[in-house]
Amino acid sequence: MKINLNNRLLAVANMIPKGHVVADIGTDHAYLPIYLIQEGISPRVIATEIKQGPYKRALITVRKAGLKDFIEVRLGSGLKVLEAGEAGIAVLAGMGGETISSIIREARPVADSMEFMVLQPMQNLPNLRKNLYDMGYKIIDEDVAIEGSKYYVVMAVCCQIPEPFDDIDITVGPVIRRKKTPEVLAYIRRKIEVIEGLIESMKTINTAPGQKALAKHEGELEMWKEVLK
Ligand SMILES: C[S@@+](CC[C@H](N)C(=O)[O-])C[C@H]1O[C@@H](n2cnc3c(N)ncnc32)[C@H](O)[C@@H]1O
Repeated sequence: MKINLNNRLLAVANMIPKGHVVADIGTDHAYLPIYLIQEGISPRVIATEIKQGPYKRALITVRKAGLKDFIEVRLGSGLKVLEAGEAGIAVLAGMGGETISSIIREARPVADSMEFMVLQPMQNLPNLRKNLYDMGYKIIDEDVAIEGSKYYVVMAVCCQIPEPFDDIDITVGPVIRRKKTPEVLAYIRRKIEVIEGLIESMKTINTAPGQKALAKHEGELEMWKEVLK
């Protein structure tokens, strides 16, 4: 059984250098671990799941792929199922930014023992970046994957003294703001379109909270436009 990853998980895999034991937290179907082994990127993967259903699904997929000796599936919450030093790279993909922040916060010694972590948040990216900076992590790389009309951000973070950051680093991203790949540029343009649409639809709202939200979106729009200059 050969695994072909979608663009989102492929962007995650592309951030993982060869030769490291990887912990895939919240693995679900275990596609990423199987790909990492099949492609010779990782010698061993620890795949973890908090829920019984996906845990069993992962066990079955790993067995069907004949990779039981290379992928260990563990049941439990976040990074707490690992000892510091068991893996060099942790992946937290396909989860909300708040969930990713909590998983890291709840197991700092394990998170800090990683060479780096690859995060692929589905929502709340600015909050996640702010939390990472507050916890003392540095965002060392970011990329964008496109799947049809959907855009996904992938980031690599490590425990290092973060450089000073500003609102654009939080909202757009410290690497994305400087990257000019076609995917990143398409992502920025799409963001601008979405925020402009929101602003247009809010212009008739005259309540104080509505005006506050409008001002917030206008501030964000300026930041996204600024990085396109
Ligand atoms: C949407 S799936 C993403 C699966 C895969 N990582 C991907 O990116 O395609 C999110 C998975 O994370 C698991 N999950 C959520 N919170 C978790 C936690 N604290 N520890 C381990 N797994 C968790 C869920 O059970 C679910 O299977």
